[in-house]
Amino acid sequence: MTHEALLALLDDMTLEEKAAQLAQIPMSACLGGVSEPTGPMTALNLTPETTALCGSLIADGVMEPEGYASVVRALTQAHPHHIPPVVMKDVIHGHKTMFPIPIAIGSTFEESYAESMARCGAREAAAMGAHATFSPMVDVVRDPRWGRVMESPGEAPALCAKMGAAMVRGTRNGDISKRDSLAACAKHFAAYGLSQAGQEYSPIDVSRAELYNTYFPPFEACVKAGADLVMPAFVGLDRVPCVCNGWLLEDILRERMGFEGVTISDWDDPGQLRNHGIASDLKEAAQLCIDAGLDMDMMSFAYLPHLADLVREGAVDESRIDAACLRVLELKNKLGLFENPIKNDSAAYASSVLGCGEIREAAYDAALASCVLLKNDGALPLASGVKVALVGDHADSRAILGGWTMDADRTQTKTLKESFAADPRVSLVSPEEAEMILFAAGEREQDTGEGASKTRPQLSVGQMDELRCLYSLGKPVALLLFCGRPLILTDAEPMCAAILNCWFPGSEGADAIRALVMGDQSPSGRLSMTFPRAIGQIPIHHDRLSGARPHLDGECYYNRYIDESSDPLYPFGFGLSYTTFALESEIVEETLAPDHPACIRATVKNTGDRPGAAVIQVYAHLRRSTLIRPRRQLIAFRRVPLVPGEEKAVDFALTPEMLILYDAQGRAFMPDGICDLAVGMDAAAPMTLSIRCRRI
Ligand code: GLC
Repeated sequence: MTHEALLALLDDMTLEEKAAQLAQIPMSACLGGVSEPTGPMTALNLTPETTALCGSLIADGVMEPEGYASVVRALTQAHPHHIPPVVMKDVIHGHKTMFPIPIAIGSTFEESYAESMARCGAREAAAMGAHATFSPMVDVVRDPRWGRVMESPGEAPALCAKMGAAMVRGTRNGDISKRDSLAACAKHFAAYGLSQAGQEYSPIDVSRAELYNTYFPPFEACVKAGADLVMPAFVGLDRVPCVCNGWLLEDILRERMGFEGVTISDWDDPGQLRNHGIASDLKEAAQLCIDAGLDMDMMSFAYLPHLADLVREGAVDESRIDAACLRVLELKNKLGLFENPIKNDSAAYASSVLGCGEIREAAYDAALASCVLLKNDGALPLASGVKVALVGDHADSRAILGGWTMDADRTQTKTLKESFAADPRVSLVSPEEAEMILFAAGEREQDTGEGASKTRPQLSVGQMDELRCLYSLGKPVALLLFCGRPLILTDAEPMCAAILNCWFPGSEGADAIRALVMGDQSPSGRLSMTFPRAIGQIPIHHDRLSGARPHLDGECYYNRYIDESSDPLYPFGFGLSYTTFALESEIVEETLAPDHPACIRATVKNTGDRPGAAVIQVYAHLRRSTLIRPRRQLIAFRRVPLVPGEEKAVDFALTPEMLILYDAQGRAFMPDGICDLAVGMDAAAPMTLSIRCRRI
């Protein structure tokens, strides 16, 4: 439909019809059709008429194509202008075939895995009838107590930005009207990861300078990559909830970032203004949100019954409704829904896509690349013929997919035991008979993700007891760790000859873990989030701001703890391999100026006897600047696969944008003077190079 036709359609619509386009209701309320009121519909004070007018459906149950297509067809038919609803779904790390959780994908430090995960998830969910996904989540995360760190690419703004943009590209596939594409929604805008004490749905308190420098950049990257929607976070900024924060949704998102898509609330977030005491009822909540620039109300039922009245009463200007409704219509137009409201209604097509070999192979490759070898005293890889005991909560469990797996096909998911038992090189025996013990343990899936904050992110008491028993047998124990967040491993680590962090590796995780344990591939993941030594260190992250008195060994009035080291157990970017690498770096162009990038060259060689992938990381530290800045910050990275003896030179172009700093008003300060650089394999790499930055 042309833009003019959209404007003409908008002009033809009544106020009620326009307001209803801004309401998202559950698919489950419509599954019984819209000719007669169903129970779920009535429970939500919906009638067949108002249901038919609603602009969007959230796929709140397990999707299946015919049912979803029949609802979309019925609503489109029943709408006075035959405007189809847009169907949205959480496709966070796959749909039927699960990929490793996003924090694991962040550990690949390779955008192509993020793009592949999003591409495959979009293909499967579109085949089931979805039009849009509430992904990528690009909250910068630094507190392992918060359960939702699993949904993020990690703690570094540069990593979240690149991975988030890659997921947007993978989800959209260049054109969201394609049968196997979805519209992408960047979330949660912004700084949700700062929830106080890591406790879910707690308030945050953050400076505007911190927003501009840390929390906004991943969203800017997603907007630039073409994100179609943005979802405000459940939190507030400057004590104004994001969902009704005009500074955030209009001054920042639209004016500063140039976003032209749809803003959609999180679940019932407008309704939650009553909990904040910001609104006394849903009508007031509706007014506050629409006036702040929120386009669509997910599941609050604030917009649907009240927006038209607010306009008639003169409390809300109709132009607000028109602008929001036009953006929703434009989204539907980009999706091609006016010509083809149904992405797919064929179970045959869906079954040809779901779990197809290509998607499962991509999930397998991502699982291989995301596991992080944290310790290895030589216990891994296992030799062929070795007698192995495979024990622990996750040894014989299909619950290795992580959160947001409502639609996952668990029948596809092998257990570790099934995978190892099928390998002729391995004989599974009891711990007493074993030469090597694999202890598969960690978090339960349901203890990660939304609503799953923990005060003790660590192995359970039972798991620690089991580890002590295994350790007492006097045989090497390799911990195969399953987690949706960094865990405190300080007490477990001394009892483990090896630790392989598998995160939640997804549908193909068991075979990928086996391949790594058996040495078919070398682990190559690097930590996308710092692993603390103690809970008391949280939040701990590589890019902490500089302090007045940096740590000085032996000195007491300096940055330190008196009861614990200030260092993490495992730093950001850390990960071991079965091979070894030699890394050298040099300055190619030492001056960095506007339109004149500096350049450093890293030469990395595989000095071992096995293939492996190095992840070269570049950290920067501005020696002096107008504002306090991080002691070091990741600004660039590259994953480099190498066979034994192979050497590659990798050039990094460094631009002012990588080092830019913003003040509390969002004014940019270009780097000036000397910038120290660390080129290494994790965030502990020493600063050995420096470049000269010039503002003009
Ligand atoms: C949830 C989450 C959000 C998700 C939405 C829809 O509360 O905060 O990330 O996309 O509701 O399920």
